[in-house]
Amino acid sequence: MSSSQTKRPLQSLNSRALKGDIRVPGDKSISHRSLMFGGLAIGETKITGLLEGEDVLATAEAMRKLGATVNRDNDGTWHVTGVGVGALREPDSVIDMGNAGTGIRLMAGIVATHPITTFFTGDVSLCKRPMGRVADPLAEFGAQFITRERGRPPMAVIGTDEAKPVTYTLPMASAQVKSAVLLAGLNTAGTTTVIEPKPSRDHTERMLRHFGVDVDVSINDDGGRTVSLTGPVEMKAADIVVPTDPSSAAFPLVAALINPESQVTIRDVCLNPLRTGLITTLIEMGGDITITNEREEAGETIGDLVVSGKNRLTGIVVPAERAPSMIDEYPVLAVAAAYAQGETRMCGLEELRVKESDRLAAVAAGLAANGIIHRIEGDDLIVTGGDVPGGGMVETHLDHRIAMSFLVLGLGANDPVAVDDANPIATSFPSFEALMRELGANLAPAGS
Ligand code: S3P
Repeated sequence: MSSSQTKRPLQSLNSRALKGDIRVPGDKSISHRSLMFGGLAIGETKITGLLEGEDVLATAEAMRKLGATVNRDNDGTWHVTGVGVGALREPDSVIDMGNAGTGIRLMAGIVATHPITTFFTGDVSLCKRPMGRVADPLAEFGAQFITRERGRPPMAVIGTDEAKPVTYTLPMASAQVKSAVLLAGLNTAGTTTVIEPKPSRDHTERMLRHFGVDVDVSINDDGGRTVSLTGPVEMKAADIVVPTDPSSAAFPLVAALINPESQVTIRDVCLNPLRTGLITTLIEMGGDITITNEREEAGETIGDLVVSGKNRLTGIVVPAERAPSMIDEYPVLAVAAAYAQGETRMCGLEELRVKESDRLAAVAAGLAANGIIHRIEGDDLIVTGGDVPGGGMVETHLDHRIAMSFLVLGLGANDPVAVDDANPIATSFPSFEALMRELGANLAPAGS
């Protein structure tokens, strides 16, 4: 999304029952990786179900600038012809990654071990986000970085053709940092190893294997994981079927749970165990969610979610260890907590401060604007549920998930809930409004 675009305020109104059978768009994490890996592989990769959100389209353009051929058929199938690991071309202009933290951080890993210089920029939100978390380990390979103050983009990456393999222990739970290091290892002679104290989403590991790369994963005594690969590798093109995004399914899921007469089915959702923390949590809160039709497709488990609003949710303590498996879902969990009986304590949310916005602050401000009792203690967010007054205008700070979460809040509130800008939703879930309306959600333009 262009930062200069005019804001589009939108509001949601109490909608009683949501009913229907829907399919949300493709998973954002898997979509980014399918374009990147296809662009690094030899041969043609065919991708179906790709998320055509702005973040992912920015990655498609980035791979074109680096020499890959990326095309879309009229039926929505994407074809990527790669250049081969080690053969990326130096881009002749700046690469704009838009709003996408995953895009810029994984791309930084890819170019760090190619002998080219790449300039990245992004929107106002991305240019506030820390890149030091990838620049630090990638510098150990021999790449050099120029960023603005405190590691903020725009960022230049001067890649190396004499990369030294790295063993890196992640200082935070981050699949983006893990992936950046592993991707730099693809064009590095020797074994690159990442040790992650808390397991984070493993789409990189799974998909690299799908492209013919040997990736070794072992479970550590403390429950963490050690992931390693030995380069330089040759990647072979492999077709990808992108499952739908559990982080997008989260919005109709919570919307159904907070409206007592709802009955909704959400099809073909990616149920990778490192992504299902929200489902586990909502079931613990008493939510009526059944998983049906569970199956394996292209290395990922998928299934359908059958949800009803018949059970009133109850507040619980959500442990910090669960955070990596639901890191993008806390804003909408805070919304579910606002409707639950009693207190919900969400522990260990420090990583929320460096997302598309400072999500801890943005969620707290949105709850305050709508009369919901809450507090922040250290890195924990505590929400007291009950009657939801609504009536507030929520600032989205260019953050798609803040916008969608608070639009869900309004669907059961006494008064409408407005967000100041619905445009960022297009980064990850372009069909959000249409699908929610199909279920019966009352969404309407709002005054600014
Ligand atoms: C992602 C990892 C997570 C998540 C992001 C997608 C990925 O970020 O928040 O939306 O695709 O690897 P962190 O690695 O910063 O936790």
